[in-house]
Amino acid sequence: MKQITLAKFAARALFNGGRNYQCGHFSFAERHQHSGGFGSFHWRWMSTMPDIKKDQQHSEEEEKKNEVVNNNSNNVVVSSYWGITRRKVVREDGTEWPWNCFMPWDTYHSDVSIDVTKHHVPKSFADKFAYRTVKFLRVFSDLYFKERYGCHAMMLETIAGVPGMVGGMLLHFKSLRKFEHSGGWIKALLEEAENERMHLMTMVELVKPSWHERLLVIVAQGVFFNAFFVFYLIWPKAAHRFVGYLEEEALISYTQHLKAIESGKVENVPAPAIAIDYWRLPKDATLKDVITVIRADEAHHRDVNHFASDIHHQGKQLKEAPAPIGYH
Ligand SMILES: [Fe+2]
Ligand SMILES: [Fe+2]
Repeated sequence: MKQITLAKFAARALFNGGRNYQCGHFSFAERHQHSGGFGSFHWRWMSTMPDIKKDQQHSEEEEKKNEVVNNNSNNVVVSSYWGITRRKVVREDGTEWPWNCFMPWDTYHSDVSIDVTKHHVPKSFADKFAYRTVKFLRVFSDLYFKERYGCHAMMLETIAGVPGMVGGMLLHFKSLRKFEHSGGWIKALLEEAENERMHLMTMVELVKPSWHERLLVIVAQGVFFNAFFVFYLIWPKAAHRFVGYLEEEALISYTQHLKAIESGKVENVPAPAIAIDYWRLPKDATLKDVITVIRADEAHHRDVNHFASDIHHQGKQLKEAPAPIGYH
């Protein structure tokens, strides 16, 4: 019965999710609570709760033991039974930290002085293969997005978060399999994936994907994840080079985005709250500031991946070179 209810819940979330996905428990979601908008998924998710509870009446007494705390705005279950509580986290100015998805120690000041024009000239066969593949893919993305800079950036980030996760995961399994350290590279690559995901969480605050863009992301993720998994497994030096060139293309896209903001083609709206906290931006930061720090992040990813490819090109393993942990 429990499985049937969960299946119903999953199907409902899938059919509704095309219009409603959002991290509902974040405070910024409140800005998108309008009907049919992007931020009502949380409401729908909550609306399925009574169905589940109906099937779990026998557990009501257990739930009481687990201290159901109603804070009037959200029903938050604090499972003190398991000893899990969130310690009070505050900003430097003493105000309460509003995010669960990242903590103050995950935030940073972006190094925007990094050279955003640096390019790795393809030399080896692996380099040329990676470069031409990226340039080939770029043709389709330009044709599809044209001058829809925000949408382009958002869709790009759904793909950009894949390689670091795949590389980190494969190095993790390699570490387990071979009883050896990764030299910090697992963490470095997973950090990159997380950083890309934060770019996406920022962009969705500014751009609302349509149902067909969501569909495209699902298909693209399915194809890209599997293709990159095999690619990294059999040819990591080309895979890292490929990501390095992807990042170079991201830099070009974000530079175009910045120019469009500067020329007034794209409105320089206030920065989302999540971006202000994540990059420690001033309270009056704007979209231009956000795109500037994201572009700097992409330049760091470019360098990390070209560096990783260079290590492989020297016939060495990643763990033999310093891992760029916390490199932003
Ligand atoms: Fe990114
Ligand atoms: Fe990136």
